Amino acid sequence: MAKAPSISLNNGLKMPSFGLGTYKSIGEADSAIKHAIDVGYRHFDTARIYVNEEEVGKAIQGKIKEGVVKREEIFIVTKLWNTDHEPEKVEKACRQSCEKLGLGYIDLYLMHWPVAFKERTPFEYGPRTPDGQYDHADVDYLDTWKAMEKLVDLGLVKSIGISNFNSQQIDRLLDNCRIKPVNNQIECSPQFNQKKLIKYCQDRDITVTAFCPLGKQNPAENKPAFLYDAKLGDVAKKYNKTVPQIVFRYLLEIGTVPIPKSVTPSRIEENISVFDFKLTDDEIKYIDTLNTCERVVPFIESRNDKHFPFGIEF
Ligand SMILES: NC(=O)c1ccc[n+]([C@@H]2O[C@H](COP(=O)([O-])OP(=O)(O)OC[C@H]3O[C@@H](n4cnc5c(N)ncnc54)[C@H](OP(=O)(O)O)[C@@H]3O)[C@@H](O)[C@H]2O)c1
Repeated sequence: MAKAPSISLNNGLKMPSFGLGTYKSIGEADSAIKHAIDVGYRHFDTARIYVNEEEVGKAIQGKIKEGVVKREEIFIVTKLWNTDHEPEKVEKACRQSCEKLGLGYIDLYLMHWPVAFKERTPFEYGPRTPDGQYDHADVDYLDTWKAMEKLVDLGLVKSIGISNFNSQQIDRLLDNCRIKPVNNQIECSPQFNQKKLIKYCQDRDITVTAFCPLGKQNPAENKPAFLYDAKLGDVAKKYNKTVPQIVFRYLLEIGTVPIPKSVTPSRIEENISVFDFKLTDDEIKYIDTLNTCERVVPFIESRNDKHFPFGIEF
């Protein structure tokens, strides 16, 4: 059984250095999570917008009841959605996530994006304006953050963090917060390695989680290119590993916590089996050259919002 070592957060708590993503796994998350726990995963990433918190929570509860894991060994991450940024909505949204998960507290509660959306009924990903942009609400993420700090005081969440924040937004938050974010969850893969933003976060004692670590897959077109790179294939052969395993090892070595999603039992096991080898400096340098700065999640439907995070270099 592969076990990911834990890393320290700036509040003294710990987070397992490898997790399971659960986006787009409705109806499949239950068996994926149960298998993941059996093979050593302890860190699970969900969000209100994935509409699977109940399924994720039930799967974990099942394994706790079976005696396979204890609650305190599990690290559950969920996220405040963009329609819940108004300070008066934050506690309610968090309590709803807690209730759906049924695990008592949340280990890490992230602000999913620095941008806020207007709410629509029924709940939807991104309410749109006639020009196809998301329908933004005028809420400053600093006010949302202040409401998130209260969640720590209330004991609903152990740690709070951010996701998709750029360097300027991080500094503005650090200049105005009472509780520092422990983590910034960002897109990170060999095609978009985020080295500058990672260093920026590390210098401020903020850990970085890597989402979309495998890029946007399209096997018919051999995409993303890094998964089909011949030299990466050779590196994989050298260590008797697969290319995705080399990718996860790279992401660990550049200082991130990868959270690949899989509902396939063999891949779930394969992905976390990356703690028994290390890449050389030259191999890391080679993988650095595959950086094309191409995002899987450009979020361009928010590009006109004043809090759009991707309008600057990092
Ligand atoms: N904060 C944010 O804004 C944000 C944005 C996007 C994602 N996330 C989080 O990050 C997680 C990961 O990102 P993602 O789900 O978008 O992408 P990903 O983990 O890079 O890729 C998932 C895809 O790769 C396949 N896969 C997994 N392991 C594989 C392997 N060893 N070989 C070949 N294919 C493999 C999966 O297929 P199968 O499932 O069929 O095995 C699935 O189709 C999400 O699930 C979510 O929790 C956060």
